[in-house]
Amino acid sequence: MLTREQVLEGLQHLQHPHWKQSLLELGLIRDVMVKPEQIALTLVSASEEEQVNEALKQEVETVLRELGADQVHIRTRMISDFERAELTRKTGGSTEAPKQASTPPTGAPQHHGLSPMLENGSGTQFIAVASGKGGVGKSTVTVNLAVALARRGKRVGIMDADIYGFSVPDMMGIEERPQLIGQKIIPAERYGVKVISMGFFVEDNAPIIWRGPMLGKMLRNFFAEVEWGELDVMLLDLPPGTGDVALDVHQMIPQSKEVLVTTPHATASFVAARAGAMALHTNHEILGVVENMSYYQCSSCGNKDFVFGRGGGAKLAQELHTELLAQIPLGAPDNHPAEADYSPSVYKAESETGKLYLEMADRIIQKIEL
Ligand SMILES: Nc1ncnc2c1ncn2[C@@H]1O[C@H](COP(=O)(O)OP(=O)(O)OP(=O)(O)O)[C@@H](O)[C@H]1O
Ligand SMILES: [Mg+2]
Repeated sequence: MLTREQVLEGLQHLQHPHWKQSLLELGLIRDVMVKPEQIALTLVSASEEEQVNEALKQEVETVLRELGADQVHIRTRMISDFERAELTRKTGGSTEAPKQASTPPTGAPQHHGLSPMLENGSGTQFIAVASGKGGVGKSTVTVNLAVALARRGKRVGIMDADIYGFSVPDMMGIEERPQLIGQKIIPAERYGVKVISMGFFVEDNAPIIWRGPMLGKMLRNFFAEVEWGELDVMLLDLPPGTGDVALDVHQMIPQSKEVLVTTPHATASFVAARAGAMALHTNHEILGVVENMSYYQCSSCGNKDFVFGRGGGAKLAQELHTELLAQIPLGAPDNHPAEADYSPSVYKAESETGKLYLEMADRIIQKIEL
């Protein structure tokens, strides 16, 4: 089987015809995933001329095939403003600052000096995904809602604010680490969603043993040191419950709205109500409730079995004077590790659950005028 190192070595000599520098070093090859029999990567289109981009794609494909890859999956996307500025810097062109500079426009009130994204009127909406207790599906909902919003053409980021219990990279099948360019961290990207997680900065899944203040500091770093570019919406996957991090997020991002996840059982929604109360207490608008693991649908007869009880989501929505955004059935995505773009937890757009997430995304777009 090919190793990642072999693949990178094979790609190393490929140059961009304009700048005569390695595509890898120019940062134009991203998200390289090496699986048995299958290689996937993103090629960033940096040339104004479509033929040049297309020819490069062919070249990349040829190299991968010569290395012995059976299946090759090359995604292409246009270069972002920030990447363009970095490219200009690397290729010795003008050193003009990237559009998305770390200082806010003059005159604008600075919000903790963290990120222009946190300014009022920045154009980025924040949605925190919360729950009263663990394991109800916050991360699953965050990831799938983010992908659904991206499928609707929105520019989406996920901040995995679960510093101890990070799970977003694994759920999305992200193997890349974020790149460090200059002083800035470039988020990993998957299905068009930019992702930052503590998981990227931990070696070998080692446990994290910081306490108290470090947590808040890490969240701040996720804003201050990460080059997010322009986002329409940033989802925050919160740790369970109403602990320090949840409180930190509420305080750091007062404009953040909230989605609450619960299971259908009455006691689950009772616990979730505490998280809702916290949001209301700190004046955060609750966009709605997602009831996860709502029912099991029999694949042959279509019957719905409400194995974990019924009505928890609706009851919670009613108590919090908000709406039930979706009821997501039990089940895992029908994805296979051998397929291109594999991710363990992201539902395909055309699957039943994938469609439910798209409907939820549409409702949220409508609700917050994204
Ligand atoms: N609708 C579903 N059907 C079946 N399994 C699910 C569903 N939603 C989530 N799961 C599974 O339940 C487990 C918990 O989900 P997830 O990690 O999303 O919850 P969480 O609320 O983020 O947990 P934590 O509190 O630990 O952060 C995972 O293994 C996930 O794959
Ligand atoms: Mg989680």
